This record gives sequence, C-alpha cells and structure tokens, in this order.
Amino acid sequence: MPLDPWFTMYKDKILKHLISSKNGFTSGAELARGLHITRAAVWKHIKTLEREGYAVEAAPSKGYRLLAVPDILLLDDIKQGLKTGTIGREIHLFPELVSTNALAMEMASTGAADGTVVIAETQTGGKGRLGRTWISPKGNLYISVILRPGIPPHKAPLITLMAAVALTSTIRQRLEVQAGIKWPNDILISGKKAAGLLTEMRAEPDRVKHVVLGIGINVNMDMAELPVPLRKLSTTLSAETGKKIDRTVFLQQFLVELDSWYQLFLKGGAAVIEAWEMFNITVGNRVAVSGPGETFEGMARGIDTDGRLILKLDDGTSRQVAAGDVTILKNRDMKNAE
Ligand code: BTN
Repeated sequence: MPLDPWFTMYKDKILKHLISSKNGFTSGAELARGLHITRAAVWKHIKTLEREGYAVEAAPSKGYRLLAVPDILLLDDIKQGLKTGTIGREIHLFPELVSTNALAMEMASTGAADGTVVIAETQTGGKGRLGRTWISPKGNLYISVILRPGIPPHKAPLITLMAAVALTSTIRQRLEVQAGIKWPNDILISGKKAAGLLTEMRAEPDRVKHVVLGIGINVNMDMAELPVPLRKLSTTLSAETGKKIDRTVFLQQFLVELDSWYQLFLKGGAAVIEAWEMFNITVGNRVAVSGPGETFEGMARGIDTDGRLILKLDDGTSRQVAAGDVTILKNRDMKNAE
C-alpha cells in the first residue's frame, strides 16, 4: 500500500515533538491541538511509531514519552551540523535499494551534482568487486558518492585509494582501532575485512565523466547475517571496539574526512599515495595475486602514481598490477627471512 504523505507528515511531526520533549511527557490533547487532529489520530500515529521500532510510554494522565529510538538513519540527523564543502551537499537516504551504486550511476548520468551521496539501510543486490555480491544486512552503512573530478581515466583508481585512506583514517582516529588497507581497497582490522570499496565510472577517452564511489562498511550487523564461509573472514566496527557504534555520527565523521581528502586529491595525488602507503598492510609482504585467469606470487614493493601495485617477481622482474585479489603470505615471507 502506498504511504499516505499526510499520515507520514503528522507522524513525523509527533516524533519530532516527542524527541524535542527529551524525557518529558507530552499530553495527547496538546499534540492533537497543535496538529489540528483528533486524539484518536494521535494514538494511531503513536502505534505506527511503535511498529517502526520506537518505544513510547503512554501514561493515562500524563500523555506520551519517548523511551527509545530504533537504530535507523534519519536524513535530518545526518545533515545536522555536517560541515563539508562538496561531499554530501545533496544526500538521498533509502530504507532499501537494490544497490546504492546502481542508483548513483543512474543519477550521475542524469546530471546529479559532484558530491551527491546515496545511502541505503539495506541492499538486495549490493555489488562487490570482480562481479561478486556484497551481502547487505541492516545495521551497516552502504554509501555511494557521485564525483566529477575531471581527471583522465587512468587516474580513477586513485579515487578508491583516496576513499580507503579517508575511511581508515576515520576508523583509526574516531574509534581508536588499528585498521589497515589491503591493496587495492579492502579495509582490514585484525586480519578480517571490515569494509570494501567499489568504484565505477563513465569516461570519455581522455576524461572521466563521473565516478561512483561505493563504500560498504560493516558497522553493527549481526555476523549471523553473513553466509558461513564469510563469517571467519569478516568483522564489524562494533565487534572490534566492543560497543555499538552510532552510525550517524560515524557516517558524518567519514563524510567530513572524505571531503578533505577529495580536496587534497584534486590538488594532486601525491598526498593520497603517501597516506595510503602509511596505512597499507600489503607493501613489504610476499603476496599472491589472483587476476582473471592467472595467479602469481611476488614481493609487494609499493604502488605507482596511478595506484597500481608494483610486484617483484621471483625471476627478478617487476610487474604492475591494475586489478586482482591479493592474499598476504606473511608466514612464507617470515620463513624466507629466517
Ligand atoms: C568489495 O568487493 O570489497 C567492494 C564492496 C563494495 C560494496 C558497496 S556497498 C555500497 C555500494 N553499493 C554497492 O552495490 N556496492 C557498494
């Protein structure tokens, strides 16, 4: 059944009122008078709020009092006090999407502004790297950012590195957790994946038209929501910190960080590469890279100015890798060193 916009408007107004009353009661009569609706209508809206996960106490002679809010993202809260220049000038929030990246790509091709952000509480067809699915249960963050950096296509991978730097820096500074970047764009904590990035773009031969930067962050999800084989490879920010994370606050902190790294990136990629090298956990290790149709091993030596991984192969030659899955073979490297 389509939502009645008037119903939603009254319900939202009642909710705002209950929130602004902090811990105090508001009488049903006062709410009804203020909104020019009946007390029975107020009661109906309260029941709907309860179905949405709000806990509301109803006391006969006092009225209604908000006890708890569900863990949902609200657009007003996200925008509240968000101090960014470009990122999040426009924000679109959805309870459910097939994929934030898919919608953002559509919006970008119909003219959405640089910095537009698309967020979903859950995705039914979240896209991962290399054609994989990104399982997207509630409790996490699924974000896509439309960027129009006006760079040549070969520089586009640096956008992913830039976002990985911004996210790692946010996790380290705000949650005091030692996150690291596994090339090209996995954010790992204690060896397990906490976030992934997927960049898609439309480009002309010499210029990127737009980029959609997709970020999936495991925040508060219940690990049981993941398929069994993924559970031992994944972690969440709440599991690593031992507490439930306020997703709105973390999202705002990340958008601010991304905004400043984007400005730095537009001035030239050097600062991004320097920070990426500082945060990365790949370089200096022996790694196995599996790409389309082949797997090979070598020592990860660094990244080049386009963000490609530089490997020294066993025959002494160098190879630059633009895409692939990296496994860090730390043990073998340590044995070699012994
Ligand atoms: C990876 O495979 O590591 C990349 C995962 C990227 C997932 C994010 S979630 C938000 C955005 N929308 C998508 O469909 N994918 C990206």
